[in-house]
Amino acid sequence: MPSTLTLLGKEFVPYISAKEIDEKVKALAAQLDKDYDGKKPLFIAILNGSFMFAASLFKELTIEAEISFIKLASYKGTKSTGHVITAIGLDTDITNRHIIILEDIIDTGKTLHSFLPQLHNQHPASLKVAVLLDKPEPRKFDVPVDYICFTIPNKFVLGYGLDFDGFGRNTKDIYELKEEA
Ligand code: IMP
Ligand code: MG
Repeated sequence: MPSTLTLLGKEFVPYISAKEIDEKVKALAAQLDKDYDGKKPLFIAILNGSFMFAASLFKELTIEAEISFIKLASYKGTKSTGHVITAIGLDTDITNRHIIILEDIIDTGKTLHSFLPQLHNQHPASLKVAVLLDKPEPRKFDVPVDYICFTIPNKFVLGYGLDFDGFGRNTKDIYELKEEA
């Protein structure tokens, strides 16, 4: 069992185990195998946070599929800044393609709310969103979420790709910020 983690002076405790993540990711891959068989989908993973989720999921898929990456950022510390920056854009033509966005977590919804219209403008055959973690409570912008591994309450989490000010991505389990006593 992993123990407490201290990062940049804050304490984090285990929240979702590597085993639970693995099970959900495998189940999602099986569902996507079914839903996208013969459609040659293009997965678009949003860096940085989704890199581990995207790698785990993609390894489990057995259908013919492509993956590409873009880099959007809207977070500073443990609070969303509300500004979305495209640091690395999309270099693939998505016209008439079946697109699945891979995101680590949806919080306010700002990131995808501002990015999805850019994709719709390029007329994909379909556009769906798959997330590792959905945090519906702090939602401020409407975002359609089609595939969800875990729905979580409004807490700050890290690990398995998710960071706190750039650090803490390198764990197999997901941790939550320990409540102040
Ligand atoms: P949104 O635009 O507010 O939906 O925020 C989405 C982005 O904020 C995610 O892609 C994450 O990178 C980051 N984020 C939101 N909540 C958390 C969290 O609890 N831990 C780490 N990063 C988070
Ligand atoms: Mg992210």
